[in-house]
Amino acid sequence: MATMGSLIGLVNRIQKACTVLGDYGGGDSAFSSLWEALPSVAVVGGQSSGKSSVLESIVGRDFLPRGSGIVTRRPLVLQLCKIEEGAPEFAEFLHLPTKRFTEFSAVCKEIQDETDRITGKSKQISPIPIHLSIYSPNVVNLTLIDLPGLTKVAVEGQPESIMEEIEMMVRSYVGKPNCIILAISPANQDIATSDAIKLAREVDPTGERTFGVLTKLDLMDKGTNALHVLEGRSYRLQHPWVGIVNRSQADINRKVDMIVARQKEREYFATSPDYGHLASKMGSEYLAKLLSKHLESVIKARIPSIISLINKSIDELESELNHLGSPIAVDSGAQLYTILEVCRAFDKIFKEHLE
Ligand code: GDP
Ligand code: NA
Ligand code: MG
Repeated sequence: MATMGSLIGLVNRIQKACTVLGDYGGGDSAFSSLWEALPSVAVVGGQSSGKSSVLESIVGRDFLPRGSGIVTRRPLVLQLCKIEEGAPEFAEFLHLPTKRFTEFSAVCKEIQDETDRITGKSKQISPIPIHLSIYSPNVVNLTLIDLPGLTKVAVEGQPESIMEEIEMMVRSYVGKPNCIILAISPANQDIATSDAIKLAREVDPTGERTFGVLTKLDLMDKGTNALHVLEGRSYRLQHPWVGIVNRSQADINRKVDMIVARQKEREYFATSPDYGHLASKMGSEYLAKLLSKHLESVIKARIPSIISLINKSIDELESELNHLGSPIAVDSGAQLYTILEVCRAFDKIFKEHLE
């Protein structure tokens, strides 16, 4: 029997198949239901609260554009796929299916270029997601979604409607009952004014799918600390709050690498007079493990409904293939057959998990 880690990997692959199938799936097909049934993790928070930085530390690689102002301008659906120890790391974009990226700086540039391709070199945003898969021995199997930050003002070159547009886009992800929400708030701002918590509370009132993440602990005023937040006394969630210290802009400019940054983060908590007693439950590595564990349990609980949706998808594909009859267009026919095979394989593997 396969392990739970490989189960999340399977779900990742189904999500990818569903994405490719988007064209065939239409709005109300079993595929779109299947996609909705599969859990994913999305970040929500104000602009420059540290969303992209948190995702990067979870992945353990530098590849996301970060900085002040509106940097993330299209949703990025990021699939992490764990591969065997020693195998070389690489990344692939859905819009560039034949190209393998082995340099993460090139991945970062492609995200920027692909963003500009749709939005122009402006501060405009677009709801059309970029799909990126990262294959690495050093990741946990997860699907993460990076989103533009919530904002209260339009800046030069943005329409006045930008605030509502961003909020609608973010809601379209975190409003789904199967979306796990990483609600990112910076520790150097009052938690009562946190956009992340405000939105998360609205779409997930019981807090069962919200993980509160507190960034920028290192930037708090001297003599203050965030214990009241981290201990759940300011705002209670079902899951424990996780404190994070990401790289500062100066670290990014100096190209402080991820390994060093993680080490510094660990030391920060281990030696902190305020947070020392919480050190084992703080930091980006702990957050990645916590999320992966949570996803596994969510997926496990959903296996029966996922199986039934997969079977519905198989039925739909079969009838679509019958309907197309022959001769069918080589491309669409071949793609449907491939996906049908993938669905059958998933069905088999999921059933083994049930045994
Ligand atoms: P996003 O707009 O929410 O995606 O935020 P980014 O990840 O792009 O970060 C915005 C800026 O805040 C960058 O310059 C980061 O270096 C900085 N930053 C993010 N998290 C932290 C943190 O924990 N500590 C410090 N000192 N800076 C941070
Ligand atoms: Na930013
Ligand atoms: Mg960002």
